[in-house]
Amino acid sequence: MTTVRRVDPHDDAAFRTWYDTYTVGFEAGRTDPGGWTSPEAAAVYRHPSAAFPMAPFGAYDDADRCVGGAWAGLPQRENLQRLELNICVPPEHRRQGIGTALLDALIEFARQNGRTNLIGGLHIPVGVTDWPGVGFFTKHGFTHGITEVRRRQLLPVPDDRLDALAAKAKERASDYQIVSWEGPCPDEYAEQYANLKALLDTEAPTGEISYDVAEWDVERLREDEANLERQGRTLYATVAIAPDGTVVAHTQAVVTKHDPSRGSQWDTLVLTEHRGHRLGLAVKVANLRALQTAHPEVTRIDTWNAEENGPMVAVNEELGYRIFEYNQGWQRTLTP
Ligand SMILES: CC(C)(COP(=O)(O)OP(=O)(O)OC[C@H]1O[C@@H](n2cnc3c(N)ncnc32)[C@H](O)[C@@H]1OP(=O)(O)O)[C@@H](O)C(=O)NCCC(=O)NCCS
Repeated sequence: MTTVRRVDPHDDAAFRTWYDTYTVGFEAGRTDPGGWTSPEAAAVYRHPSAAFPMAPFGAYDDADRCVGGAWAGLPQRENLQRLELNICVPPEHRRQGIGTALLDALIEFARQNGRTNLIGGLHIPVGVTDWPGVGFFTKHGFTHGITEVRRRQLLPVPDDRLDALAAKAKERASDYQIVSWEGPCPDEYAEQYANLKALLDTEAPTGEISYDVAEWDVERLREDEANLERQGRTLYATVAIAPDGTVVAHTQAVVTKHDPSRGSQWDTLVLTEHRGHRLGLAVKVANLRALQTAHPEVTRIDTWNAEENGPMVAVNEELGYRIFEYNQGWQRTLTP
């Protein structure tokens, strides 16, 4: 019989076993998936974010061996109807009801917390047509909400290529000042930067999955930065500033000391009324230059975009990103 229980992230042995089991399921069938390293995961679960606390759950067999892992995230500032989840079962334990037992526990957890909308993600390698999670979600009444494409860029991008792209961006972006930083956002931009971060979930395409406007303020920004530091990650950010001093575009990428050859490209946003000035390209080129200069050990950087996000994908392809994997979002509404 399978038993599911919440894992205490402060119990080193239990947490490590959960992490290892989850990771085997997470990585199976994928190439270089780049999930959280164990110290990053420990920091995430031991110091939960106020905006998005996450809880680990483990599935155990009769001998109390961990045979599957999952996490549940409960947004606290917006999307209060939602529980986000992921379930990973190592291949040798699949098709024995373990994923279902974990999902049942997460549904119970959702109900206890008044959540009615479940969102789960799948990572599907290019060319694979029968990914287990698709059958699993379909069986459990989830519907496909969005497909995002994960693209990868190999680093370093040669300086002359970056120079050419920066010059191309400047043809239309010359009125804007481009400012980059490493780590925490300078105080002078913090409020505007927090406002920009709030917009991403509703400005970028999200398919059938609807998001509330996120509530970001300087306090949340600073908490997020403190969490990143605790996780061993360093953020690189670049903004574009209009002549009147308004911060109108930003991009951010992150490196981790726990997996130094890997980078991740996160948010990029240009305010609607400032689109068409190649600001997306301008901020990304400057940010990439800052990151690869400071971290020559990074050999690859990944980014995720909705399939239909034409403008962002065009910028990424121009920078040299190529398709690597598909991410799908699936959702289910819980009935009372
Ligand atoms: C998806 C996953 C969690 C399923 O775990 P599992 O323990 O094998 O799931 P269960 O045994 O409870 O399967 C329940 C039902 O889901 C469906 N299902 C599961 N795997 C399937 C597959 N490979 N193909 C088709 N249907 C599948 C079946 O209907 C199955 O019932 P059945 O075995 O009686 O036919 C596991 O394959 C996994 O870890 N995949 C990688 C991570 C992932 O994609 N997670 C997605 C969920 S967030």
